[in-house]
Amino acid sequence: MSTTAPRENPLLAPPALPRPKTIAVIGAGTIGPDIAYYLASTLPDAKLVLVDVVEEALARAKERIAKTADKGVKKGKLKPEDAARITAAVSYTLRYDDLAGADWVLEAATERLELKRKIFTQVESLIRDDAWITSNTSSLPAARLFSHLKHPERATVTHFFAPAFQNPAVEVIRWDKARADVVEALRALFAATGKVPFVTSDALCFMLDRVFDNWCNDAALLLGDATAAEIDTVAHAYVHAGPFEVLNLAHGNPIIVETNTLQMEEGPAYRPARVFESVREWHTVAPGKSVPVADDVAAKVRDRMLGVLFSQSVDILDRGIGAPADLDLGCVLGLGFKKGPLELMRELGEAECQRIFERFARERPGMPQPKRPLPEYQRFSRKVLADEVDGVCVITLRRPQALNALDDEMTDEVLALIKAREGDPKVKGFVLTGYGERAFCAGADIGRLGETLGDAEAAAGFARECSRLLLHLDRMDKPVVAALNGMALGGGLELALRCTALVAHQGASLQLPEVTLGIAPGIGGLVVPYRRWPNAAPVLHDMLASGKRLSAREAKELGVVSALGGSYQEVLRLAQDEVSARAGKPRPSLDKPVQLAPPASGPTKGPGGAALSAEVVGIIRKAIVDAAAKDSLGAALDVGYRAFGASACTAGAREGITAFLEKRKPDFERTG
Ligand code: COA
Repeated sequence: MSTTAPRENPLLAPPALPRPKTIAVIGAGTIGPDIAYYLASTLPDAKLVLVDVVEEALARAKERIAKTADKGVKKGKLKPEDAARITAAVSYTLRYDDLAGADWVLEAATERLELKRKIFTQVESLIRDDAWITSNTSSLPAARLFSHLKHPERATVTHFFAPAFQNPAVEVIRWDKARADVVEALRALFAATGKVPFVTSDALCFMLDRVFDNWCNDAALLLGDATAAEIDTVAHAYVHAGPFEVLNLAHGNPIIVETNTLQMEEGPAYRPARVFESVREWHTVAPGKSVPVADDVAAKVRDRMLGVLFSQSVDILDRGIGAPADLDLGCVLGLGFKKGPLELMRELGEAECQRIFERFARERPGMPQPKRPLPEYQRFSRKVLADEVDGVCVITLRRPQALNALDDEMTDEVLALIKAREGDPKVKGFVLTGYGERAFCAGADIGRLGETLGDAEAAAGFARECSRLLLHLDRMDKPVVAALNGMALGGGLELALRCTALVAHQGASLQLPEVTLGIAPGIGGLVVPYRRWPNAAPVLHDMLASGKRLSAREAKELGVVSALGGSYQEVLRLAQDEVSARAGKPRPSLDKPVQLAPPASGPTKGPGGAALSAEVVGIIRKAIVDAAAKDSLGAALDVGYRAFGASACTAGAREGITAFLEKRKPDFERTG
């Protein structure tokens, strides 16, 4: 990719700046060590130094990092040798002079403007003129923090969310003095290391803290009408932990006082609730618990909490503080909302939102109100990013909380984007890829599959309905190339298999694990690969009937993948080349039946030797053979839809899907 202009997908362009090798984190409170842990665990070549002026704070930080690593090992998420490497990668110092060689200094000290400015002056006197400086403030604009520096252009805000080693959200502030390449390099680094960066403008409290602070402040303003426990109980409809539970966990009362006082620069309605000054800890329910709430109280609390949430959301969009898709995803990832505010507004409908806004205007005069008709706030793609690169439309599946698993909305957004762009003569074709370096797409949304259990007709209809995007791909003239940036599983692989060609990262993998969930792949997996790569039939049998995972290299040898790349950017470049090479060429027809040696019968085991459902394996084997014999693609696909329907009625499917949702291993020995 040739250009460095900002892309929706931060990983499309090769980073214009080298990755920092020596990173200093200033501040050994809570978030500083957590940020150091994240950096040490995701940048194995980096040297990290944690700086503080208090020796005991450093000792506590060291202990915290060791404990976090230890927990990772105990949970089976981390190998002991990786834990040892992470803890050894961080050194601890009281001396600012040790910052001298740093490529990036990340400040996470106390939230005081004057203190932070002093720190940056000192840091600047020690480090190179082009070394990055970033602040982890949640509220103070970059212009106030960095304008006094000799080289403010390498400085910005990178705002993490707790716990910073785990929470993927991070805000990166684009302010007027910051160099575009520094902001882009930070976005790319975060996206490549498992974070989801959200670029925001330099407004007070940026994007997500405006939501969080005012959500908490209005909760406190409601305390005359309801108790903290009642408010948290009502809030549970929208968030995993209520505002008072979070404030208790984060010792957040002084923060709300500070940040809402700051926001009073925008109007007196932001005044922090008085009660924050006199209360240390809230008497509320434990996370997940509730108390009875009278209907009228619940209605008042609900309207107010939604009122403040929607009011902040429209204000953020009207002022261009952040992008709508980022606002929704940021609230889910960073703040623990069950749905993004714009998604909630869409679900509630215009009339109900209007009512909530009107009530909010009466109760909270001076707080923002929508400046446009409400439907205008819904005009965006929530789960798909779109970039135009050299005549190719690159579509990125972005649902990082579910490894980019496909749901209806994502399917429809991809389809709508393709339909909107395919007629444009300037568009040569499309590339379909996944957000981040881990997954292309982890398949169909397993949560949704549960709804299909027990009704063969309905389940077959569901599979047919889920195929709407894939059927459109079959009919397209312009090429669509799948760029497998990471794992491609189940429905995600079935989607890729319908593309004109596949290219992959050399570390990517291809798997049809449906059989391990007790179901048959329903949207072409039993059909299409045999018609495209009949020579691969023995391997395909294994993939379908035992869930065998294929490495990208094996897929390349079989001809399923046409090229391998060593980095995200190389894979995307290869995909673009493939689009150019295939533009204007007709696709081979998949209507002809294929001669297959049928899959062997007998018992099969899944990956790791676990037993599979014999009934479901039988359904899959039979469908492979039946579909191969059909003399049109449509008829063969129908066999697949029906096989999915039949599998959805087995005891194995109920066990497999329930086990996934309950995060346990399925027991197919018991269910058969
Ligand atoms: N549908 C819905 N959610 C999915 C998903 C899918 N297909 N695949 C992954 N996720 C979710 C997980 O539930 C988890 O959510 P949580 O953090 O809220 O618990 C999140 O994505 C991360 O996945 P997790 O399982 O914690 O990561 P892991 O590294 O332990 O395992 C996989 C990765 C891919 C092995 C595992 O997620 C998996 O087996 N996914 C199902 C793949 C599959 O069978 N797809 C075919 C469906 S047709």
